[in-house]
Amino acid sequence: MCSPYPQVACSATVKSITQVSKDVFSLVLLREIDKMQGNNRDRVIIPNPVPGQFFMLRARPSGVLLGRPISVFLFDDQTLTFLILKKGKGTSELCAVNKGQLVDVLGPVGNSFPNPDSVMVKEAISSRKSLSVNKNKALTIAVVGGGIGVAPVAGFAQTLDSGSFDFYGCFRSSLYGLEGLDIRAKKLVITTDDGSHGIRGMLSDVFNPDLYDLVYACGPTPMLKYLKDTCESSRRNPIVYLSLEQHMACGAGACLGCTIKTIHGNRRCCVDGPVFNAAEVIL
Ligand SMILES: Cc1cc2nc3c(=O)[nH]c(=O)nc-3n(C[C@H](O)[C@H](O)[C@H](O)COP(=O)(O)OP(=O)(O)OC[C@H]3O[C@@H](n4cnc5c(N)ncnc54)[C@H](O)[C@@H]3O)c2cc1C
Ligand code: FES
Repeated sequence: MCSPYPQVACSATVKSITQVSKDVFSLVLLREIDKMQGNNRDRVIIPNPVPGQFFMLRARPSGVLLGRPISVFLFDDQTLTFLILKKGKGTSELCAVNKGQLVDVLGPVGNSFPNPDSVMVKEAISSRKSLSVNKNKALTIAVVGGGIGVAPVAGFAQTLDSGSFDFYGCFRSSLYGLEGLDIRAKKLVITTDDGSHGIRGMLSDVFNPDLYDLVYACGPTPMLKYLKDTCESSRRNPIVYLSLEQHMACGAGACLGCTIKTIHGNRRCCVDGPVFNAAEVIL
């Protein structure tokens, strides 16, 4: 299993920065970095993240003290790609970087979305209080992203078997992060608040929990709370994994600034999460 604690603290070079919607930018960083070891210059590769992990990112120079948690959207051997929504100072600085500039990087941090074939998911499914799963049938899976929460779940969906999941993308107006999902997903459902794309409305207008055994989601807390409640009270009672977006400071498990409440007591969102079984978190 991959460590939830950050494995590198370094500065990575911006390969590209592209505006993908009104306030959302795609930031691509090079994974190969120069590191000084005494007088020697070493070439180091930022370790492979697993789907669901994030990095603490900070533009250089910066007016903010601490990095901001940003999920990995996509990665390959050479690059890490992030989707960043301009919110306050830290994310605005990250959206304003130029090609060749340095960005401070700490990570990868956190756990991952458990694979549908993993022992963890199998045990959770078999402990469901409702229907038992027909062992000869594949699990039915929904992947749900709300707004910028699309980034980690869309990246995760790219690792699932093609045609093995339905994808729900819920946005205010413009869309981003959905490249390739129209082909990979069995069904791609889009909602927008203003009706400019897909169905006008919200997740609750299109989502039926009784269709699924397993749900993965990231997005605004009200959407995650809706999913938790609707799945828990449904007949089929799908297992739900939520990636939570909590304010963070150290991003390394040390400051307790990201504590969330669970039925097992307090947990650190950064290194005990950010992915939690919805049945265990108190939202
Ligand atoms: C695990 C994790 C993964 C994330 N992944 C992404 C991502 O892929 N792309 C992306 O754009 N954003 C992501 N975020 C949210 C992002 O970290 C915050 O928007 C960012 O920290 C805000 O920093 P700022 O300096 O721009 O704004 P600030 O000035 O710090 O805050 C501006 C506003 O954003 C709110 N805010 C601050 N931190 C958070 C937070 N963690 N969640 C929700 N609201 C917050 C503040 O209350 C304030 O209203 C993620 C957060 C977490 C915890
Ligand atoms: S952000 Fe410091 S413990 Fe999680």
